[in-house]
Amino acid sequence: MANQWEMLRTRAAAARGGRRESSAASSVRIVQAIDQCVASLRLYGAHHAMTAAAVSTSRATISGELRAAEVEVSVAGDILLTDGRPVPTRVAAVNKLLKRCHERDIGSIVFCRGFDDREFAALVGILTADPSDIKELGGPAVALSARGAERIRIMDDPGEEEEEEPEDGEDARRLYDLALRTVEESMEQARLGTLRSVGGVRTAARLLMGAILRDTSALLALTTIQRYDIYTFAHSVNVGILSLCLGAELGMTGQMLEMLGVGALLHDIGKTTVPKEILLKPAELSAEEFESIRAHPEEGARMLQKIPAIGAIPPLMAYEHHMTLDGGGYPERAPGYKISEPAQVVCVVDRYDAMTSVRPYRNAFPPDKALQHMSALAGQETDRRVTLALVGMLGIYPVGCCVRLNTNEIAVVVKRGIGDVRRPCVAVILDPDGARLTDSVEIDLGDPQIDGTHERRIVVGTVDAPTKGIDAAEILAQARAS
Ligand SMILES: [Fe+2]
Repeated sequence: MANQWEMLRTRAAAARGGRRESSAASSVRIVQAIDQCVASLRLYGAHHAMTAAAVSTSRATISGELRAAEVEVSVAGDILLTDGRPVPTRVAAVNKLLKRCHERDIGSIVFCRGFDDREFAALVGILTADPSDIKELGGPAVALSARGAERIRIMDDPGEEEEEEPEDGEDARRLYDLALRTVEESMEQARLGTLRSVGGVRTAARLLMGAILRDTSALLALTTIQRYDIYTFAHSVNVGILSLCLGAELGMTGQMLEMLGVGALLHDIGKTTVPKEILLKPAELSAEEFESIRAHPEEGARMLQKIPAIGAIPPLMAYEHHMTLDGGGYPERAPGYKISEPAQVVCVVDRYDAMTSVRPYRNAFPPDKALQHMSALAGQETDRRVTLALVGMLGIYPVGCCVRLNTNEIAVVVKRGIGDVRRPCVAVILDPDGARLTDSVEIDLGDPQIDGTHERRIVVGTVDAPTKGIDAAEILAQARAS
């Protein structure tokens, strides 16, 4: 078994190492193959034998051009690129494909080794469908995924209009709920043994990635506000969002970041093999019950490995997410075993989210205490660089966290501190006597000018928002709107 995971690690490292570049001629052959198939479908229709033959020939051509596990055809303005290298524009097929991508808001198309005729026909269907129908279906990525394509993926092009103005947290809430439904569905399928694809989770990871790259704070705040019990899947979604944010902070991009998101959203999929009575038991577990919990990383990795085209990273993240750097945690492994980088991210994030959430056998730690505890153990149990990056990213008092000030006022953190992470930007909600203010007052605790004539406000601790009757999500929405 150990050798099997060693192989997985090698494949994951190879995936991180990037793909070989395609030559210009190879790029042109890929684009021309797509063009021929599009032309055939437009001429004969989707169900004609000539189209089926064109699909087969073009699929074989593109498969033959794959020099690595995948090739990406992407759009950058008026330039078409394969694996980041421009394709010569003098070729008519290039400009035709560019036009089709622009009309349908397609940012890139990724072909993974092993894609079949059915998946390629689904892509050509998207490239020839009415652009307004594609929009109606939720964009090209969702539309392709809905047609069952696993080994061909589309990344949406956000377009200029969407970059203009971030929405007031509604977009983040909608995405959070979408991810929640998707994870729940996949976990249920895993429990029933019918999970065959992670296309929906991949789409959710990609949409979360796009939202995080536009505005990290709205989704991060939801991970602080959204508490959960073991019946819900909010922990998996919180770990997914925090991992994507942390991965981006550590410099991960593109496919690597997407795989990190998929692995993080599904890291606990093996828990579907553990009976609920054990997961919810408020008392000490018997040795047998504990063994059942300890088996979930390996069970999860086994389940994910069976999914076609999932790649090496998500199963490895499931397998390694309870390991510690000092050789502790589980599953057991040979001395000197190196935990992969994506798993180190999920180890740190999983631990933080679990600490700050209520468990059947204990209360939640406030975020500042959890981060302090984790900082103290950085480099021993968890990777030092990754742990400190999480602390820097959340800023001790994360956005959405409810705090008490030295003036005895109660406030909600609405923005992280710039420079000094202990001095975030807050909205004061309750006055020193506990009375609710008609309008919240926003104060940047890091700005010395604000309280120049008075004692400077500082945070003295965190408080539980619900016990003070505070809806942190509502306060954040108001702060964004003002
Ligand atoms: Fe776990």
